This record gives sequence, structure tokens and C-alpha cells, in this order.
Amino acid sequence: MASTCVVGLQWGDEAKGKIVDLLCDQHDVVVRYQGGANAGHTVVVAGVTYKLSLVPTGLLRPGVHGVIGNGVVIHPPALLQEITTLQNQGIDFQGRLHISDRAHLILPYHLEEERLTEDSAAAADHIGTTRRGIGPCYRDKVGRVHGIRVGDLYHPGYFRERLGRAIAFKNRILSAVLPDFVPFDPERVASDYLSYAESLRPFVTDTGGWLHDALARGSRLLFEGAQGSLLDVDHGTYPYVTSSNSSAAGIGPGAGLPPRLIDRWIGVVKAYTTRVGGGPFPTELLDSIGDRIRRVGREFGTVTGRPRRCGWFDAVAVRHSARLCGVTEVALMLLDVLTGLDELRIAVAYETPDGRTLSGFPAHVADLERCRPVYATLPGWSDDISTARRWSDLPQAARDYVCFIAEQIGVPISIVSVGPDRQATLPVA
Ligand code: GDP
Ligand code: IMO
Ligand code: MG
Repeated sequence: MASTCVVGLQWGDEAKGKIVDLLCDQHDVVVRYQGGANAGHTVVVAGVTYKLSLVPTGLLRPGVHGVIGNGVVIHPPALLQEITTLQNQGIDFQGRLHISDRAHLILPYHLEEERLTEDSAAAADHIGTTRRGIGPCYRDKVGRVHGIRVGDLYHPGYFRERLGRAIAFKNRILSAVLPDFVPFDPERVASDYLSYAESLRPFVTDTGGWLHDALARGSRLLFEGAQGSLLDVDHGTYPYVTSSNSSAAGIGPGAGLPPRLIDRWIGVVKAYTTRVGGGPFPTELLDSIGDRIRRVGREFGTVTGRPRRCGWFDAVAVRHSARLCGVTEVALMLLDVLTGLDELRIAVAYETPDGRTLSGFPAHVADLERCRPVYATLPGWSDDISTARRWSDLPQAARDYVCFIAEQIGVPISIVSVGPDRQATLPVA
């Protein structure tokens, strides 16, 4: 066995894409198991930037296969556009991309349904989603009555019938609540999707079966998490989460494989914390340090361009997600962004309004909102570390910072990243 899981331990954008890309030379297949075009994974190879959303990062490496598993939700126009963009950047998809016939489809009414809740006047209803139709599509999947899967496209009679029923229902609801709503024409949507189906046909397969066969041939799999564990629908800061199990918990159901075949579990964290959208964020910095981290770290969403909220590293939150995912090692990313700060803080516990100290992560957002972080303060460093390639190249203060985080989260840090490029990475001695 030599299969690996790479999963974010914060609120997403931990630089999972970079770590997946780095590990691709030790794997044969990269598997996405949840999420959809809400993900934005940026990989920089020899100065060229690639942005991946639905396409598994492995496609960037010649010879590596990519699987979009059954747990992913697919908006076909977004996927086809992404394939075209990557092909124009020289990526060859021939025989290397495999899309699950069980994955659910995002349909145009899902985007309207999301617009309805996200634009709603009641501020408390806003999650601050990426507006890619993710939540409404997963809702239909679990609700069963209106869910439509990739495989349905290849049974056109069945597809038209199911789509017709879903659209009749959605049109009735949406026209009652959206004053500017133009009803969907089932014929038009059906013909658009049947045409996408033809473009996607070469890639569509039973990916669960395909993966089991690949394993039997000795292939090494790499599971690429999207979002982060604190956005997990069950274990994250509900309801300010995404609609899938974005922790490692999603691998079994989302890929159709027993997780016991994985022998390397890598959690990815930033050397600080970011979050996009609404929801509690105990270590958020609403001051010039937060602005500085945003500017130096170029903390603007890959998918929506929104400024990311920035704050200190939160060891309480990461302890929770590291335990949940069972990671045995951690990759600490974007350490270079902290260069030049006089001192650095790390939340090691939370304090409740009644003066209790918590070392665990509260389950309820109302409790989390009321927690104040208890900080440890460490000295910063001023030397440029972006050219460091060995652990011994880092200044003592940077090494102490990394070691302190490892101790606090109770998991060894095996990789430190000091720049976006593949090369800007060092193993921890
Ligand atoms: P993902 O969604 O987890 O793959 O992360 P994103 O790609 O959304 O965000 C991470 C950003 O940080 C990307 O723009 C990367 O190119 C960049 N990046 C990755 N590692 C480093 C690093 O060590 N230092 C710096 N400065 N940028 C990095
Ligand atoms: P990657 O894979 C950061 C956030 C959104 C919002 C919440 C729900 O690049 O790390 P959704 O559209 O999923 O219903 O939005 O989740 N979110 C992400 N934040 N990185 C992501 O993906 C995210 N995908 C969703 O901002 O708060
Ligand atoms: Mg991202």
C-alpha cells in the first residue's frame, strides 16, 4: 500500500493544491471525493500558475490519472470550461480523467436557489457561499426526489422525465418567491445538458470500480481534499460550512473505497489562519497585522476574488480537525508570509465569558462566537526565508515557531512551505 490522504485542517485554502502536486511523483491517481467548483487550488510550476477547481491536481503531471469521484457535485459548463483552459495551457486529458457516473449534477435552478438564500434580506441567512450551486445540489441529492446524476444523462428518456418533474417543481417555488424569476424551459435545459453529456462521454465511468481495479494493478492513490475540515458539514462550524464532508470523513462515501487502504494521512495548514465567507473566527485580526497578512499572502479567493479574513494560527481549532481526520503528519504552508512581524501569536486555548478555559473546540457557533483566544506569544524573524530549502536554512525563531505549533497540535510537522513554487518546500529535520 502507498496511498495518501491530503486534507485541509482549517477553513480551506491551506495550499492543498501545492502539496498534492508535490506528492504526485509518488502516486499514480489523484482522487477528488467531495465538493465541486467551490474549490480553487492554485499550483505554480516553474513560474507558470495553474488554477484547478473540479479537475484533480494530478492532471498537471504527465502520466498521472485524475478521478472526480461520486461525492463531487459537477456543473458541466464549469467543468468543460476548466478542461478547455487547462488544455490551452498544454495539459493532455486523453485517457487520464475519469468522472463518476454517480456524481450529482448542478443544474441552473440550483444557482437560482442559492441566489435566493444568499441575497435574502435577513443577514443571518447568509453563509457567504461561493454561489456555485453546491448547497442546493447536495440538498437535492440527499432529498432524493429531484437529484440527477451524471449517469442519468446517458439514459435520455429517464433524464428528461426526471428533469421535467424537477423543473416543474422548482419553477413553481422560485416564481412564488423571486419577483424577477424567469421560469426554466425543461426542453432547453435538457438539450443543453445532453450536449454537455456528449463532450463528457469519454471521461464518464464507474469510478469506484475503476479505482478498485487500479488498486489491484498496484496503483498508488492520492485523495485530494477540497475545502477544509472546519467547513465539514458535520464537524465544522455549522451552519457556516460547506455541504459536504470536507474532512477526511468524506473519503469512504465520496470515493467508494474503504479508507483503511490509506497509509499516509497528511493535514495541511497555513502558518496563520484564513476564512472566506461568514461564521465565527476566534483569532481573526481586524487590524493592520490582518491587512498585512492579506497583502503579503495575496489572500484573495481563487474562485470568487473575495478578500479572505486573516488571523493568527489557532491551535485549538487545528487540534480538533487533526484528531477528526486522524492525520499523522502536517504540512505547514506560507510560513514566509509571517516574515517581518515582530512577534507572532498562537491560540493555545479559549476562554469563555464566565472565565473557564477550554482546550477543546465548541460544537455550537454561539459558544464559539463568545470564546476569546488565549495566546502564546513567540518572537518573529526578519530574514527572508523564501529561498530556504533545508530546515537548517530557517532562522531559529522560525524553527521555534514551527516546533511550537507541532507540539500544540500534537502532530509532527513534516513539510514546511516558504513560497508558491513547487521548489519552495523543505522537509523538516
Ligand atoms: P488550496 O485551495 O488549499 O489549494 O489553496 P489555494 O490555492 O486556494 O491558496 C493557497 C495560495 O497560496 C495559492 O495562491 C498558492 O499559490 C499560494 N502558496 C502555496 N504555498 C505557499 C507558500 O508557502 N508561500 C506563499 N507565499 N504562497 C504559497
Ligand atoms: P478550497 O478547496 C475556502 C466556503 C465559502 C463559504 C462556505 C460555503 O479552495 O480550499 P459553498 O459555496 O461551499 O456552499 O460555501 O465555504 N468555501 C471555501 N473557503 N476554500 C474553499 O475551497 C472553499 N469552498 C467553499 O466561502 O464560507
Ligand atoms: Mg482554495
